[in-house]
Amino acid sequence: MSFNVAIDGPAGAGKSTIARAVAKRMNLIYVDTGAMYRAMALFMLREGVDLKDAQAVAEKCKEADISIGYEGGEQVVYLNGENVNSYLRTQEVGNAASITSAQPSVRRKLVEMQQKLAAQRDCIMDGRDIGTCVLPGAQVKIYLTASSGVRAKRRYEELLEKGQDCDLDTIRREIEERDYRDMNREASPLRQADDAVQVDTSDMTVEEVITRIMDICQERRR
Ligand code: DC
Repeated sequence: MSFNVAIDGPAGAGKSTIARAVAKRMNLIYVDTGAMYRAMALFMLREGVDLKDAQAVAEKCKEADISIGYEGGEQVVYLNGENVNSYLRTQEVGNAASITSAQPSVRRKLVEMQQKLAAQRDCIMDGRDIGTCVLPGAQVKIYLTASSGVRAKRRYEELLEKGQDCDLDTIRREIEERDYRDMNREASPLRQADDAVQVDTSDMTVEEVITRIMDICQERRR
């Protein structure tokens, strides 16, 4: 049976940074499910689909073949055969993903893929519904969170570093809107699983969070 670690939490809580680091140190594969939802949103944007039109999104998502692979230890997302990694981490695609991921047809398609992957490999998977829906039997479940002010500042610095033009107040507002959408949608909303351990990273360094999560994983793995 594979060893699965589920990490859920709101945008900007540090899930991907932490999951990537823990994966390396514990020899697990890292599965970034947000990137899959982002790839689906990118497809909708490219195809000019009205994101709020549930029927159009459900219909169009049948044409998107999304798969993942690993190149040099990094997850690569393929959209109809094209490596789209470099287009995924923008505010535009993130906001669009938050809208299209509310569609049950989109979720069904991606959740099935995530469950197959986790059954085959020891992995750490991050997202919004991993502990509650995708891997309810995961050996470790973490709910990673931080205040919206701290999360906005982290996203702002990440975007600045990439040379993208951005404004802190706008990012904070978008993060709060995204939280609201992710937590209040009907299909698998973001919530802490009953058996998840909550880790609030607002006042923690990256290294402190990694150590805390590794301790929890090692204890459960024994
Ligand atoms: O983690 P992220 O910012 O890359 O996620 C982008 C959007 O995708 C997020 O707003 C909600 C959605 N998402 C989801 O609904 N379920 C997941 N397991 C992962 C992401």
